Amino acid sequence: MDYFTFSLVLSFVLTCIHVLLVTKSIRRRSGTARLPPGPYAFPVIGNILALGKKPHESIATLSKRYGPIMCLKLGSITTVVASSPKITKEVLQKHDLTFSSRAIPDAANTLDHSTVSILWSPASTRWRKLRKICKEYLFSTQILDARQFLRRKKVQELLNYVHESCIRGQAVDIGRAAFTTSLNLLSNTFFSTDLAQYQSNSSQEFKDIVWAVMELAGKPNIADYFPLLKLIDPQSVRRQMKFYFEKLLEVFEGIINQRLQSRASSVLGNDVLDTLLNLTKDNDTELSCNDIKHLLLDLCIAGTDTTSAVLEWAMAELMKRPEAMAKARNELEEVIGGDGLVQESDIPRLPYLQAVVKETFRLHPAAPFLVPHKAEADVEICGFTVPKNAQILVNVWAMGRDPSIWSNPSSFLPERFLEPKTELRGQEFEFIPFGAGRRVCPGMPLASRMVHLMLASLLHSFHWKLEEGMKPEDIDMNDKFGLALQKAMPLKAIAIKL
Ligand code: HEM
Repeated sequence: MDYFTFSLVLSFVLTCIHVLLVTKSIRRRSGTARLPPGPYAFPVIGNILALGKKPHESIATLSKRYGPIMCLKLGSITTVVASSPKITKEVLQKHDLTFSSRAIPDAANTLDHSTVSILWSPASTRWRKLRKICKEYLFSTQILDARQFLRRKKVQELLNYVHESCIRGQAVDIGRAAFTTSLNLLSNTFFSTDLAQYQSNSSQEFKDIVWAVMELAGKPNIADYFPLLKLIDPQSVRRQMKFYFEKLLEVFEGIINQRLQSRASSVLGNDVLDTLLNLTKDNDTELSCNDIKHLLLDLCIAGTDTTSAVLEWAMAELMKRPEAMAKARNELEEVIGGDGLVQESDIPRLPYLQAVVKETFRLHPAAPFLVPHKAEADVEICGFTVPKNAQILVNVWAMGRDPSIWSNPSSFLPERFLEPKTELRGQEFEFIPFGAGRRVCPGMPLASRMVHLMLASLLHSFHWKLEEGMKPEDIDMNDKFGLALQKAMPLKAIAIKL
């Protein structure tokens, strides 16, 4: 028996023992308490097999049977699923503090990232400091307004790229183009630099690495279900992630070093990176260059795929429903005028466009379970006990398609968001694509600007048609579960210059 097989067998045996002990201890602790209902959990593997390739759908189906608060056993991980606004409100509002930690996937432990990360840190003093920095220095209205001209420039580059494809008669891969644009919108907002190009050449490297990180992080990792297996990383997830993280951190280090040099020899700049570097000298903030690198890593990972996936879904839905596309375009024509360029400041005057974006979030939330939370203590919810250390999944995808909340839930009807007006954070927790409570997405103000600006610009500058021989009803609307909920089949569309 070689070393690898031996380690695998040993870990498996240890895991079985661990699972049995944990199960026993939960049963003992919950002697009088009642776990939420759920399907029968097989020994050792629990309900892993029930997840299938689309866990958001399989879990939604199970919740219909077992109720809006349900308990699953995923390997040795007790998982509680909330799938109604009422239970979600209990989790993200009433018991927000107890549920504000994260269930950390092993991939996030690469290079100790989870210990410094805003995304994965528990709700500690350190995490609060990072959230405050984001709120004040990255995503405040004033800061975002100050960089909007750069984002406008980046969206113009997207339009130029689409125009070139249009001249060549080539279809545009909307998701890929949106991914490149989102990355550049973020990098220009933060440090006034492009990180990606549309055409394929060697400088693609950064974009490809971010893409690879998304793919790797989106794959199921057995070590997340059996924590003892983290010792041997059986699918090499952490090893591969280390390779990519090192490359990304190297790029950020290069940008930081270059900036430090230019700051030493000339006047100080005033973008987000300059502000963060100023904070490294502030004794109260205690922000180090390493913190900045890991923060930029989180922001690129949390902000790129999510934004581009939503844009691709919105375009796909509009191409499938030409009347909705026509309404959105007419509104743009009326508000912006034939030759005008869409600006971020125009968004409040485009209610139908906003409704299109919301309807897209309802049907295709980028994070169908939010980012998994964790219980810091036993909590009683609606007569059931959510045990300490349980992973909490909020099934936003299921709530978006629940017929008791939405009429015609599977139809794309932006009009439903016009009256009464629902915000991107639904008051009653029925619509929370960016989460809610302490862990709500801090990038929401930027994400909202990016999605609306890109979508409005693509619709206002071009007519769109499907590739030869394809009809709207042929568009494949299946999704693929991963770090963000992607279209399984990329949307390719042909632009026609107006
Ligand atoms: C359409 C785009 C986006 C969507 C749908 C989205 C959605 C989400 C969701 C659902 C969460 C988890 C909330 C929870 O666990 O309760 C989250 C967290 C987060 N998002 Fe976003 N997001 C988007 C774009 C962005 C952007 C552009 C950035 C930054 C550049 C960003 C940065 C973050 C960060 C740092 C967190 C972790 C916050 C924490 O754990 O404290 N997101 N996002």
